[in-house]
Amino acid sequence: MQLSSDKVKLFAGTANPVLAGAIARTLGLPLGALSVGRFPDGEVKVRLEESVRGDDVYVVQSTCPPVDSHLMELLTLVDALRRSSAGRINAVIPYFGYARQDKQVTGREPITAKLVANLLESAGVDRVITVDLHARQVQGFFDVPVDQLSALRTMSGYLRQTAAPNTVVVSPDTGRGSEARRLADMLGLPLALLYKRRHSDTETEVTAVIGDVAFQRVLLVDDVISTGGTLRRAVEALLENGAVPDIRICATHAVLAGDARQYLSHDAIKEVIVTDTIPLRPGDPYTVLSIAPLIASAIYHVHTHQSVSSLF
Ligand code: R5P
Repeated sequence: MQLSSDKVKLFAGTANPVLAGAIARTLGLPLGALSVGRFPDGEVKVRLEESVRGDDVYVVQSTCPPVDSHLMELLTLVDALRRSSAGRINAVIPYFGYARQDKQVTGREPITAKLVANLLESAGVDRVITVDLHARQVQGFFDVPVDQLSALRTMSGYLRQTAAPNTVVVSPDTGRGSEARRLADMLGLPLALLYKRRHSDTETEVTAVIGDVAFQRVLLVDDVISTGGTLRRAVEALLENGAVPDIRICATHAVLAGDARQYLSHDAIKEVIVTDTIPLRPGDPYTVLSIAPLIASAIYHVHTHQSVSSLF
């Protein structure tokens, strides 16, 4: 899957240099030279240190915390590429922040996911490659192609090797039900759903368990662990409903805001499996599966004009 560096370049923002390096190695491409710094007042300052004239460029940048700063860095990088006459500019955003506000829930609110799509397009992005968007409809907020990859195959490969008997796949809310269904089908396991009510950004409540979890081991699957509140409540509800205290969690994006690490340290949670769309802290006790081969395949397929649907 090697690309010749003739007319294709890969650049990395500062959000996830390890992942960008792994993608570069898989594709046999060097990372493009650029400098990212700050003006004395804190504004971001980027400069491309090599020509990109006429090149197809892929810029890897997760818009993970600090979200505003990583997003602004991505926007300025894209602007620099456009003003330097790059050919096509592909934003590779393994974790797409600000996808949460995809509609007005109450009045007088922004739709931030649409705003971010507008900003990226105005800056000059010709294509977005991303992984497990929080809400699929964010894809439609763009007028340029958005290739939304799924980490489920990466997850299922690992889970198949480490499967335990009497396991049920559980979605912690109905919103992720179809993704959980896909994972359950891949693993040949039954599915259960929790009905979640969200009271605030940090407070959720499980009001119903749909499906059979009693005397079962559980594989809880979600797109993102933000505060960890959703998964903590899910674990508590599952235990109250008779699940075996042998619960594994798998989630694509480890945002791990606030008290998330504390929430995940529960006796019944035996393993937390995440991907490297967002860098973890050294010493975090989680299983990290790399998404680099998946993203490298997507870049390879896009660049060589081959179908990417098989990667979704
Ligand atoms: C549902 O809204 C999502 O799939 C996640 O469950 C949610 O965003 C996780 O957020 P938190 O970890 O803050 O509960």
